[in-house]
Amino acid sequence: MSDILIAFTTNAGSTPEVAQVIADELVQRGNTVTVKDFIEINDMSGYDSVIVGAPMILGWHKGAMKFIRKYRNVLSAKKCAYFCTSISITKDGTETINGIPVYIDPFTAKEPANIQKLAINEKYALPENYVKPILKQAPQVKPLSIALFGGKLDMGKLNIFQMIFVMAIIRAQPGDYRNWDAIRQWAKELDI
Ligand SMILES: Cc1cc2nc3c(=O)[nH]c(=O)nc-3n(C[C@H](O)[C@H](O)[C@H](O)COP(=O)(O)O)c2cc1C
Repeated sequence: MSDILIAFTTNAGSTPEVAQVIADELVQRGNTVTVKDFIEINDMSGYDSVIVGAPMILGWHKGAMKFIRKYRNVLSAKKCAYFCTSISITKDGTETINGIPVYIDPFTAKEPANIQKLAINEKYALPENYVKPILKQAPQVKPLSIALFGGKLDMGKLNIFQMIFVMAIIRAQPGDYRNWDAIRQWAKELDI
């Protein structure tokens, strides 16, 4: 039984719903869970464990990178996990990166057309290209798991530059790719 904080940020509003589903699952296991936006957090001393979640926005959301760097000493002294929401993940069989278990949502991850010769967008979306910069940001933090979940892309919520990036570089189609079963399963199995 733990006192768990789920700290999140968002660009367009769908990641907090993922945080809430993780919270519901952890509460069902008898934990006490608080879900908070980073901007509401300035002290994590009351919590046994912290889960940090944010979307991939040209790399993990800058706010999340800043958050784990700022709180690296606190996070390294607690049980901790990270989750990322995203639209594009290349399936390459990755299970760990730098010794950290990586959970990849099987619904969102796509097999590359030719594993020997990845297209630019496939290379961009390799799990290691998402996860390594996150680990580098706060190397002393050893998350129990990093999850790469499908997210939600709503063009109506993006500005013109964001739209161009999403269409040109990651070639994503709008839609809700959140896989609630995978999200619940990850939360169920997390030893936090
Ligand atoms: C400017 C921008 C950049 C993005 N970059 C990536 C990316 O690099 N990889 C990816 O898979 N998804 C990317 N996405 C998609 C988001 O990660 C996805 O839509 C996420 O679920 C959004 O969460 P939110 O609703 O909480 O902001 C990007 C979206 C935007 C608007």
